[in-house]
Amino acid sequence: MQRTTTIYIVLSLALASVTNAGSTPLVRTYQGDSFFDRWDYWGNYDNTTEGDVTYAANLSSASSLTYVTSSSTAIIKVDNTSTVAYNDKRESVKILSQDTYSVGSVWVLDAVHLPYGCSVWPSFWSYDKSGTWPDGGEIDVFEGVNNQPNDQMALHTTDGCNITTSSLSSFSGTVNDTSCYYEDNDNSGCGITVNTSLSYGSAFASAGGGVYVTEFASTGISIWFYSRADIPAAVSNASDSIDTSTLGTPSGWWGGSGCDIDTFFGDQTLIFDITLCGNWAGQSSILETTGCAALATGQTCYTTYVLDSSNYDNAYFEINSLKVYSNSSSSSDSTSSSTSDSGPRMTSPGGLGLMWATSLGVACALAAFLS
Ligand SMILES: *[C@@H]1O[C@H](CO)[C@@H](O)[C@H](O)[C@H]1NC(C)=O
Ligand SMILES: *[C@@H]1O[C@H](CO)[C@@H](O)[C@H](O)[C@H]1NC(C)=O
Ligand SMILES: *[C@@H]1O[C@H](CO)[C@@H](O)[C@H](O)[C@H]1NC(C)=O
Ligand SMILES: *[C@@H]1O[C@H](CO)[C@@H](O)[C@H](O)[C@H]1NC(C)=O
Ligand SMILES: *[C@@H]1O[C@H](CO)[C@@H](O)[C@H](O)[C@H]1NC(C)=O
Ligand SMILES: *[C@@H]1O[C@H](CO)[C@@H](O)[C@H](O)[C@H]1NC(C)=O
Ligand SMILES: *[C@@H]1O[C@H](CO)[C@@H](O)[C@H](O)[C@H]1NC(C)=O
Ligand SMILES: *[C@@H]1O[C@H](CO)[C@@H](O)[C@H](O)[C@H]1NC(C)=O
Repeated sequence: MQRTTTIYIVLSLALASVTNAGSTPLVRTYQGDSFFDRWDYWGNYDNTTEGDVTYAANLSSASSLTYVTSSSTAIIKVDNTSTVAYNDKRESVKILSQDTYSVGSVWVLDAVHLPYGCSVWPSFWSYDKSGTWPDGGEIDVFEGVNNQPNDQMALHTTDGCNITTSSLSSFSGTVNDTSCYYEDNDNSGCGITVNTSLSYGSAFASAGGGVYVTEFASTGISIWFYSRADIPAAVSNASDSIDTSTLGTPSGWWGGSGCDIDTFFGDQTLIFDITLCGNWAGQSSILETTGCAALATGQTCYTTYVLDSSNYDNAYFEINSLKVYSNSSSSSDSTSSSTSDSGPRMTSPGGLGLMWATSLGVACALAAFLS
């Protein structure tokens, strides 16, 4: 009996190590009552994408905008109760993880609701904030504007990272632009649109939400989207580690000969934010092509939407969990305040391009020149 047990244990260990080859260990879970423990609040107006919001300063002051529900989901939302006086901005939230995650990490966002609505511009994204954007790269997992049908993913990098023709069969989404270089395509990055409307807006919510899996690996960046009903066991059962090898074709993939991940990407800070209007969502032509009316003569996105709280009842993230798996010991806790680093952070959720390039882009170029 003793002997049999020993053999059994040895065998199980051997089997376990075989099954775990290719897996990445869990390093952090943001969930329930501790969801908001390790984030910094922006605490300023939207100084990167020209949106008409003031981002709350900290958890205490933001508690009506970031909280945990009785069913343990985390809410990150726009103020949908106050009437905003003309010329004031509406309160919203932008939070940045105090921990950074290196190449060799996977982050899994499980949400039941993602923000949408006319003038709403939400994003779950990451960037390397140790340098001048976009040195160290930006990864936009979930982003969209207004009532656009599907999620658009994107990368933003310095010059030399592309989606190549030969990689087209590696993912199921539709390419918007192949160059990830921030100076190309009005800074909209190399976007890939997910192949289902269940990835965004009311359809995402009606389906019970879903999961975004982002693998940040040396060989490439992969993002999988699964609607609630399609979440594979490899994701839902990944309590100690995750093995992405069975996840199938991702929605988006960037890498191979088109983009050397280790060259273009540094340690990533994870971010949730919701801005309003701004230099992508707020343009009349964009509103018109993303499920909202064109602006009436003499009106702006701000005057049409921002003042009235009833426009923001769907402008919230409701999150079951955010789990991060990583091979790297340098995927670490920040020891000092991560808002105290110096230098301009000319960053922005992707796809914003357009006018951003003219205003902040100039400031950015100036700052880069001066430093
Ligand atoms: C973590 O390491 C394992 C074993 O080397 C590897 O198979 C896996 O792809 C790595 N994970 C990432 C995200 O790179
Ligand atoms: C934007 O706001 C952040 C947060 O307050 C601040 O750290 C940063 O310096 C500001 N950037 C610019 C360009 O003013
Ligand atoms: C954070 O919240 C506390 C309590 O509401 C407040 O006293 C403090 O001034 C806030 N900090 C900032 C930077 O706004
Ligand atoms: C990106 O491509 C999708 C699919 O072709 C399209 O519906 C969408 O309008 C494009 N987005 C932008 C910003 O061009
Ligand atoms: C997922 O985990 C649960 C609980 O451990 C187990 O009952 C179930 O069989 C697992 N499913 C798969 C497909 O591995
Ligand atoms: C979308 O892509 C996924 C793989 O990423 C695939 O399983 C699914 O069938 C595709 N759906 C449609 C409608 O093409
Ligand atoms: C990326 O695309 C640009 C513009 O087409 C090209 O000059 C560059 O060589 C490409 N680089 C890679 C690594 O594919
Ligand atoms: C505001 O949004 C929340 C969801 O975040 C919703 O439950 C509520 O009904 C909305 N309206 C008001 C007036 O609070």
